[in-house]
Amino acid sequence: MILLFIACFIHIYSINSQNTSVTVPTIKNPYTPRDHIVNPHNFSYILNPGYSICNSSNPSVFVFIYVHSGPGNYQRRVVIRETWATRTLFPDIRLIFMIGKTLDKNLMKAIEYENEIYRDIVQEDFIDSYKNLTYKGIMALKWISTYCSNTKYILKVDDDIVVNTFTLLNHLKFLEKHSTNGQHNTILCLVWTAMMVMRDSKSKWYLSKSDFPFDTFPPYCSGSAFILTGDMPTKMYNASLYVPFFWVDDYYITGAVASAANATYAQLGSLYTIPEQLAHTRFMSAKSFYTIMFGHFPTSLNNMREIWKRILTLQKYKFPNRVQLNSFSWDETIHQPDKATR
Ligand SMILES: *[C@@H]1O[C@H](CO)[C@@H](O)[C@H](O)[C@H]1NC(C)=O
Ligand SMILES: *[C@@H]1O[C@H](CO)[C@@H](O)[C@H](O)[C@H]1NC(C)=O
Ligand SMILES: *[C@@H]1O[C@H](CO)[C@@H](O)[C@H](O)[C@H]1NC(C)=O
Ligand SMILES: *[C@@H]1O[C@H](CO)[C@@H](O)[C@H](O)[C@H]1NC(C)=O
Ligand SMILES: *[C@@H]1O[C@H](CO)[C@@H](O)[C@H](O)[C@H]1NC(C)=O
Ligand SMILES: *[C@@H]1O[C@H](CO)[C@@H](O)[C@H](O)[C@H]1NC(C)=O
Repeated sequence: MILLFIACFIHIYSINSQNTSVTVPTIKNPYTPRDHIVNPHNFSYILNPGYSICNSSNPSVFVFIYVHSGPGNYQRRVVIRETWATRTLFPDIRLIFMIGKTLDKNLMKAIEYENEIYRDIVQEDFIDSYKNLTYKGIMALKWISTYCSNTKYILKVDDDIVVNTFTLLNHLKFLEKHSTNGQHNTILCLVWTAMMVMRDSKSKWYLSKSDFPFDTFPPYCSGSAFILTGDMPTKMYNASLYVPFFWVDDYYITGAVASAANATYAQLGSLYTIPEQLAHTRFMSAKSFYTIMFGHFPTSLNNMREIWKRILTLQKYKFPNRVQLNSFSWDETIHQPDKATR
């Protein structure tokens, strides 16, 4: 027994001393780019507004916004069109809803009619489901790089987010003005640096060791709202073809694909408030109003409308001559960008 133990000890010791690679397991991130196409995106468009959104626009598009929206979320899309994305208030933004398909024929018809009125929907023929969200992210990158590749910035949001569009535009115009060659190669977001991988098999976000071998994710962004510089969609769409598919869309798009495209991460931390109640409080308080750009309002459409009313009221109060339909002009003194991005 003792001899056996000593023998083992000596054996292990000799392996360690002669060849360390035997005892150090090398785990590789499975979502690094390959040298050939492993994730082609070959879905077809059902609805596609094409070049009409961005070509021949005057003024040219400053921020292109795409919203991940579910087929049945008509009410949310109406609220967004009527509140923070109001076209007459913000002539240099464009907005598109990204939707997959559903097997419900009536709902498909309804989406088609909705698009006839608003002309702001891109739809591809993959089934719209939680585990297919990565397809939606890639679809957006592909569509933008094809039909809207000349915008300065791209904002992605989910359809339950309220954006203070005034803060957004001021922040980006400030960055634009104070960068020498214009911003490029950057993703501005709430960066998670060591997000835990969910190992509880009962969770919606559960991942086994074979799905993802590490206990924490490499850096990626909160996916509910992030900003890309205009050069990123083309680079990221290309990169997505070489990165194996993974259904965790936030990590896939803003982590695996963005890093494969060599993006730089810029922290936009203090301008976010994700929990609904806290976002509500911060938008409502005069003290914290100017520190918040995105709020998450999954439970109530009325909350989204109420927050937008509040944003308009404060904007009018502070700049009585500036908030008028069709005649809005910018003032960099309103907001200073977050310290972390400088
Ligand atoms: C260590 O072992 C591995 C696997 O057995 C082998 O491929 C490698 O060449 C060895 N390295 C050295 C320095 O002996
Ligand atoms: C799918 O897309 C890839 C690259 O985007 C292309 O090379 C391939 O020919 C396409 N396959 C089909 C069946 O269309
Ligand atoms: C739209 O603009 C792009 C980029 O400037 C150009 O390549 C394309 O031909 C234009 N398409 C149409 C239909 O005007
Ligand atoms: C994702 O979309 C594809 C293509 O439509 C479909 O075959 C597949 O069932 C969908 N997956 C889920 C989990 O819905
Ligand atoms: C992706 O980009 C690389 C590098 O620019 C290029 O060589 C490759 O052909 C591109 N792939 C596709 C499918 O366009
Ligand atoms: C990213 O950087 C690496 C290392 O410098 C380089 O090999 C690779 O081609 C770059 N990829 C892209 C898409 O720029």
